[in-house]
Amino acid sequence: MKFFIDTANLEQIKEAQDLGVLDGVTTNPSLMAKEGITGEKNQLQHYLDICEAVDGDVSAEVISTDFEGMVKEGEALAALHPQIVVKLPMIKDGVKACKYFSSKGIRTNVTLVFSAGQALLAAKAGATYVSPFLGRLDDISTDGINLIEEIRLIYDNYGFETEILAASVRHTMHVINCAKVGADVMTGPLSSIEGLLKHPLTDSGLAKFLEDYAKGN
Ligand code: E4P
Repeated sequence: MKFFIDTANLEQIKEAQDLGVLDGVTTNPSLMAKEGITGEKNQLQHYLDICEAVDGDVSAEVISTDFEGMVKEGEALAALHPQIVVKLPMIKDGVKACKYFSSKGIRTNVTLVFSAGQALLAAKAGATYVSPFLGRLDDISTDGINLIEEIRLIYDNYGFETEILAASVRHTMHVINCAKVGADVMTGPLSSIEGLLKHPLTDSGLAKFLEDYAKGN
C-alpha cells in the first residue's frame, strides 16, 4: 500500500519524506487555506515547492465546477510539473472532465467519493485514483472501511486499473484497516503514519537493551 500525506504543510511533507516511506501528497482547497496559501500565483508556486520536496504524485484540486473551467484549470495544473495529478470533484462535470483528461493521458484523482456507485463511475471515466473519504463516513456513523471493501470487490471483478486512494484517514487504525482490505493507497496526516511506529513493548524493550549494554561497559 502506498502512503500519501494529506497536507499542504511543507515541513510535515519533508518530515514524512525524510522517513523514507512517503509515496505522494494529496492537498485540497481547505488544506491550502490552512497554510495561508491564497491567490493563484502563490498556489501554483506552492504546488511546485511540494513537487520539489517529494518523489511521488501530488494531487492538486481544481476549484471550477463546470467542465470548461475544470479543463482549463486542470491543464494548467498538469503542465506545471510531471508529478501533478489533477484532482476533480465527483460531480457530473467532474466525471466528464475525468474522461477528457484520461483520453489525453493526463492523470486524475476523483475526490469527494462516498459511495460504490460514484467509485464505479470514476473508474469508467478512466480515473487514475479514486478517493473515498472514509473518515467523513465514520463521522456520520457509517462504516467507511466497508466502502473501501466494496470498491475493491467491484474493481477486482472487472479489472479496473483505477487505484483506490483511501482518503480522510484520521489515525493509525484507519491505515491498518485500509491495508487489510486492500486499498492501493492511503492518505492521512503525518500522525497517522508516525503512529505506526509506536508500541510500548518496543520502548521498554529498547530501554532494557540499552540498560544491560551500559552494565557491561
Ligand atoms: C482527500 O484527498 C482529502 O484531502 C482528505 O483526505 C479529506 O480529509 P478530512 O476528512 O480529514 O478533511
